[in-house]
Amino acid sequence: MIKTIFFEDQKLRILDQSQLPERVAYLNCSTVEELSTAIKTLKLRGAPLIGVAAAFGLAMAVTDYKGPADSLEEYFQKIKSLLASTRPTAVNLFWALERMDKVFQVNKAATQQAIALFLRKEPEHMFAEDININYSIGEYGQSLLNANCRIMTICKAGALATCGYGTALGVIRSAARRNKIEQVWVCETRPVLQGSRLTAWELKQDSIPLTLITDSMAGYTMSLGKVDAVIAGADRIAANGDTANKIGTYSLAVLARHNNIPFYIAAPLSTLDLSRSDGLQIPVEERDPEEIRQIKGVQLSLPDVEVFNPAFDITPNELITAIITEKGVIRKPFERELKKLK
Ligand code: MRU
Repeated sequence: MIKTIFFEDQKLRILDQSQLPERVAYLNCSTVEELSTAIKTLKLRGAPLIGVAAAFGLAMAVTDYKGPADSLEEYFQKIKSLLASTRPTAVNLFWALERMDKVFQVNKAATQQAIALFLRKEPEHMFAEDININYSIGEYGQSLLNANCRIMTICKAGALATCGYGTALGVIRSAARRNKIEQVWVCETRPVLQGSRLTAWELKQDSIPLTLITDSMAGYTMSLGKVDAVIAGADRIAANGDTANKIGTYSLAVLARHNNIPFYIAAPLSTLDLSRSDGLQIPVEERDPEEIRQIKGVQLSLPDVEVFNPAFDITPNELITAIITEKGVIRKPFERELKKLK
């Protein structure tokens, strides 16, 4: 399994996703500032992975802290805010930072070295937990699929978006292990192309049959009767089940409904944000207009054309057939069922 993030020689090594699929290259982050730039510039991405990376960053910052002992807490909070400011939509980031804060609070009377050690262990736990959670999501999810299944997916929700195995791709992987997958339709996922650059690469690594399409081809492909289910990941799920995920997910859900195709969200419970009553409360990141005007530095439009570039959209709960979590498959009414689980 490809390692997306690990510690080596006092450096956090992260798989540089901006170089895939051309190159498998790792980037060294020696400081938390370097890590926060790497998260902002999408070297590393995907909701669960961003959370664990930020947790590693906090541990690294406390290990390297050189100031007076009585200012350590203030410094910890400053670094926590820095990391929290990197990406606004995926709630796993805030979930992981809060989990690190709890470890800090419980141990803050100890020496800096001891606190750093406790903090360093926590992301390792999160990392291992995330992989186990994804195996569970995979198992529950595959039970929803029949033989010779043709799945459509968007963005990337595999090992590259998590600590391993993946959420939506975890379901596909578990189904493939049972020979249930005939075909995966991979939407390219403009503007940043996570589908064509990352998901297609991951599926190829596992020899799972895939066909790449542009996002605009999804509806026609469904109308031809070539899709049995749509499965997407999630960046944040509100209390009523409304789900933020990569831009284009909402369109797939509408198209799936029109074509009577089940639409599933696969996500760990850490993606659930019960403090947001519905999708309107979820902050949606808007990214650099150049992501749309250019691809890899090649100008595709007038250089000054107006651009709207939301990185995520909200799929209303009524379009979601079920939410696949590590604790089981959640069906409607989502509000009641999600509350019970959390
Ligand atoms: O902007 P990104 O590349 O971080 O967005 C990633 C996604 O939207 C994923 O589909 C989502 O995080 C699901 S993660 C398993």
